[in-house]
Amino acid sequence: MLPPGRGLLWLGLVLGSACASLGSAAPGSVATDALNVLLIIVDDLRPSLGCYGDKLVRSPNIDQLASHSLLFQNAFAQQAVCAPSRVSFLTGRRPDTTRLYDFNSYWRAHAGNFSTIPQYFKQNGYVTVSVGKVFHPGISSNHSDDSPYSWSLPPYHPSSEKYENTKTCKGPDGELHANLLCPVDVAEVPEGTLPDKQSTERAIQLLEKLRTSAVPFFLAVGYHKPHIPFRYPQEFQKLYPLENVTLAPDPQVPAGLPPVAYNPWMDIRQREDVQALNLSVPYGPIPTDFQRKIRQSYFASVSYVDTQVGRLLSALDGLELARSTIVALTSDHGWALGEHGEWAKYSNFDVATRVPLLVYVPGRTAPLPEAGGRLFPYIDPFASASESMEPGRQAGDLVELLSLFPTLAGLAGLRVPPRCPVPSFHVELCREGRNLLKYFQFGDLEEEPHARGNPRELVAYSQYPRPADAPQWNSDKPSLKDIKVMGYSIRTVDYRYTVWVGFSPREFLANFSDVHAGELYFVDSDPWQDHNVYNASQGRALPPPLMPTPEGT
Ligand SMILES: *[C@@H]1O[C@H](CO)[C@@H](O)[C@H](O)[C@H]1NC(C)=O
Ligand SMILES: *[C@@H]1O[C@H](CO)[C@@H](O)[C@H](O)[C@H]1NC(C)=O
Ligand SMILES: *[C@@H]1O[C@H](CO)[C@@H](O)[C@H](O)[C@H]1NC(C)=O
Ligand SMILES: *[C@@H]1O[C@H](CO)[C@@H](O)[C@H](O)[C@H]1NC(C)=O
Ligand SMILES: *[C@@H]1O[C@H](CO)[C@@H](O)[C@H](O)[C@H]1NC(C)=O
Ligand SMILES: *[C@@H]1O[C@H](CO)[C@@H](O)[C@H](O)[C@H]1NC(C)=O
Repeated sequence: MLPPGRGLLWLGLVLGSACASLGSAAPGSVATDALNVLLIIVDDLRPSLGCYGDKLVRSPNIDQLASHSLLFQNAFAQQAVCAPSRVSFLTGRRPDTTRLYDFNSYWRAHAGNFSTIPQYFKQNGYVTVSVGKVFHPGISSNHSDDSPYSWSLPPYHPSSEKYENTKTCKGPDGELHANLLCPVDVAEVPEGTLPDKQSTERAIQLLEKLRTSAVPFFLAVGYHKPHIPFRYPQEFQKLYPLENVTLAPDPQVPAGLPPVAYNPWMDIRQREDVQALNLSVPYGPIPTDFQRKIRQSYFASVSYVDTQVGRLLSALDGLELARSTIVALTSDHGWALGEHGEWAKYSNFDVATRVPLLVYVPGRTAPLPEAGGRLFPYIDPFASASESMEPGRQAGDLVELLSLFPTLAGLAGLRVPPRCPVPSFHVELCREGRNLLKYFQFGDLEEEPHARGNPRELVAYSQYPRPADAPQWNSDKPSLKDIKVMGYSIRTVDYRYTVWVGFSPREFLANFSDVHAGELYFVDSDPWQDHNVYNASQGRALPPPLMPTPEGT
């Protein structure tokens, strides 16, 4: 699948065999001092992190990254499910352009031959490498993580991934089950390791090789946790004694929630331990002691991933690459941990759409480390309740995850792709997101980034499809052909406004005259989005929740 010759050369690089100067093999030309990029994508991670103000969650290594980064407080994914979100932000296009709302099509064949972030870096002379879950596997990335277009090397997947959904979780009966809650003794699981540990090891090996390459690298590392099942080293449970774990502030299904907005979280119900609870479909509820256990295991999985991020970044540091590498950390979307009585992504609520977004740019978001100095020493989350980390720079403006493409390109000094025309199916390289570079232009390193322009004019768009107006077996993940309603949602600094409208999956047409339901929540008075005031607002002026046309930045 790799171009002949070049593929072998890259392979030689990674396998450590002797190889000639990579510089001469680079397909494009880049400045010799071009910055590398390390993109870390954590699956299903909402901003339950110390650096986002979470008081319970131990995430000292991600917090340390944040202390040297620009942290976006209000970043939102375009659709709260893995494949559509990943294809959206990796191509820099909205789901209405990639036409992927489910898992079942490959955008190049189905919508347009859109370039991806790694492909763009590759075309500009970078060696691009994928470790773990970066693209969603399967049809949506042509069963190849979009190879050969996006990657210089065959993408790496950890061998122990295949046990994720098998019976490897010891239950109270001493037998092995396919549970939702799955703290494990790593020494006892098949292969004696876990996928995210393997990915970290592979990524570190790659960094060691890539360091000596004459061309810059773009390394994407995708961690699987805290995606369900919560299969993590059992010692992480100790960080979250059950008596310290609170419930969601709003564990009830809100009275004013339109049924179309509710997702019945069918996937956790298939796990053996959840099946045994005999929950009623679609609304549950889950007994409160089990709610606490789910939250405990989610947070423990977050701390486990934090240690992997810590190992990876301390290796980057140890190889003296922190001076020359942009590090971005984000997630494909969030996850409801009982808010609105929900236990999944699959919605337009902030808990499902809001993502962490941190970007470290050497010498810009933090001073360059001195020679031999350490920016990212590994921090043990078990060592004494971590003192809170110095916060780094923060931006409160609303931003969209699909802006990552132009932003990373610009930060690395590549040409920022032009804005997309409407429609843009025929255009391979363009961006639907804003270029966020201006947030990285600090007068001097002491100055806080100030609001640039009017924050009230900024919006983040998300959307979610449904097969019916009431929750049913496939409401969480309808296939394209079954989609009947699309929930278009806008988040401004003041409110979230969602309309659920008729949608034709054959023509990809939304009918905004055919409104099935609406939601309106004000951020200040209702931060958890439990009091839908849509009906009361009818007749008042609100901006139409249409997809945006390209705008100025
Ligand atoms: C998808 O992969 C198949 C099999 O490798 C290949 O023949 C096909 O050309 C790929 N599709 C696109 C659009 O590149
Ligand atoms: C899609 O883009 C890739 C990379 O630019 C190119 O190699 C390929 O030929 C294009 N395919 C089509 C069908 O245009
Ligand atoms: C649990 O809460 C108690 C009381 O606030 C606190 O002293 C203790 O450190 C907490 N335990 C952990 C592991 O955070
Ligand atoms: C809003 O109005 C619709 C249509 O009249 C009704 O079905 C729905 O229950 C109302 N919602 C609330 C929260 O009052
Ligand atoms: C689960 O529900 C079924 C049907 O309602 C009932 O027969 C069974 O006893 C329940 N089991 C438990 C463990 O509650
Ligand atoms: C859009 O919905 C309205 C209201 O249900 C309906 O009258 C109209 O025919 C629909 N338009 C199309 C193109 O389906």
